[in-house]
Amino acid sequence: MDNLVAASLLASDFSNLEREIKRAELAGVDWIHYDVMDGLFVRNISFGEPVLKSVSKSISIPIDAHLMITDPIRYVGNYAMLGANGITVHYESTPDIQSVIAKIRALGCKVGLAIKPATPVAYIKPYISQLDMILIMTVEPGFGGQVFLTETLSKITEARQLVNESGREIRIQVDGGINAYTAPMVLEAGADVLVSGSYLFKSDEMRRAVNILRGKNSEIN
Ligand code: DX5
Ligand code: ZN
Repeated sequence: MDNLVAASLLASDFSNLEREIKRAELAGVDWIHYDVMDGLFVRNISFGEPVLKSVSKSISIPIDAHLMITDPIRYVGNYAMLGANGITVHYESTPDIQSVIAKIRALGCKVGLAIKPATPVAYIKPYISQLDMILIMTVEPGFGGQVFLTETLSKITEARQLVNESGREIRIQVDGGINAYTAPMVLEAGADVLVSGSYLFKSDEMRRAVNILRGKNSEIN
């Protein structure tokens, strides 16, 4: 499977989301990553359903909703209805992750399971046969623009082993502090979807930044 780049809208200019989405699409971004924060599971509040409703018609590439919210089962149906192709929920966000996974699948969306830096990869194992994506957080969820935590590299390697042993086509996403310096490390460790906010949206030449993240360009800027 080719390496993919997902653009996190959290770092975009909210005063013109439509233009920012077009910029990302023209730059060759593969997915739009939509970070939902509820001020409870994580400290911040970002954006939610009404904003996705407004922008989803402007998005022509797949949307992955990264739900950093408590009680996600109450909301996954709405995100599916609003056009999310994939829904990624946090293992830590509910005592009954199994029901959430089953519900996302029943809605016809790709199922993603995310873990925070302190959550062991082994906790994902019981669900592996039901997943399309694993998201290894490479920073603490809740803020954009943080520094990549190098101690998460071994978790990416572990997730890659788990996926390879499963024989299933499961994407391994990394999210947080992904830029020209950290991308080669996470690709080497086994990630194949690089989520990036600040690095992409703050770049003057987003296409070049996308290619660098994908590992198609050895240039570092
Ligand atoms: C953090 C979010 C990320 C964030 C990444 O909680 O899940 O998607 O936008 O931002 P950067 O790439 O700036 O670290
Ligand atoms: Zn995210």
